[in-house]
Amino acid sequence: MEEQVFAMPRIGEKAPEFKAVTTQGDINFPADYAGKWVILFSHPADFTPVCTSEFMTFAYMEDQFKELNCQLVGLSVDGLYSHIAWLRTIKEKIEFRGMKNIEVTFPLIEDITMNVARKYGMMMPGESNTKAVRAVFFIDPKGIIRTIIYYPLSLGRNFDELKRVLQGLQTADAFGIATPADWRPGDDVIISPAGSCGTAKDRMDGKEEGLDCKDWFFCTKKLPKEKVMDAILKK
Ligand code: BEZ
Repeated sequence: MEEQVFAMPRIGEKAPEFKAVTTQGDINFPADYAGKWVILFSHPADFTPVCTSEFMTFAYMEDQFKELNCQLVGLSVDGLYSHIAWLRTIKEKIEFRGMKNIEVTFPLIEDITMNVARKYGMMMPGESNTKAVRAVFFIDPKGIIRTIIYYPLSLGRNFDELKRVLQGLQTADAFGIATPADWRPGDDVIISPAGSCGTAKDRMDGKEEGLDCKDWFFCTKKLPKEKVMDAILKK
């Protein structure tokens, strides 16, 4: 039997285009979201417990993502009527970590043909032939893929981390810096190695104001939380 080839879009590439039917109407992706950040994420199947807990958490946090000019778009290889019935059941019956009566108002793509899931490398035959893995694509306002995270079927995602990734990408863009391990808004940021502005010697001699250099390649600077939030929160 011929082996199927699954495309894997990469960071820095244009998000593959597609048209799809969703629980919120038809979409033309990513054109419909030009000017916004998008988190496109797949889940393995409707009416499954881990996915249910994830959808409730994402829906609960949706306003926090909207404030960051970010649209959530979900996908699974189930059909539209399954999606609608599952989301209605979540709202009417499911309580999780104090969240209840949760209405999912972001679009959930039906992808029974697996057309989108295949385009985005969401099908991983080693994990399942019939279900998408838990993939997360961060797409910037110009339609470029900026971060990709994959989780297996058994592991629910950490939504604080997804928000932190979005804030980190937006902060790097706004200030031309990088963010160190476990960075959160308000923590010191990393200045890219000398060369782009000033020399390594200037830095080590303390000639570049506001920098704290431990060695020529490791310089940080303060970036107050208010400044970060002012730059990344949608006005
Ligand atoms: C779940 O969401 O609970 C789930 C889905 C597919 C396989 C295993 C768990």
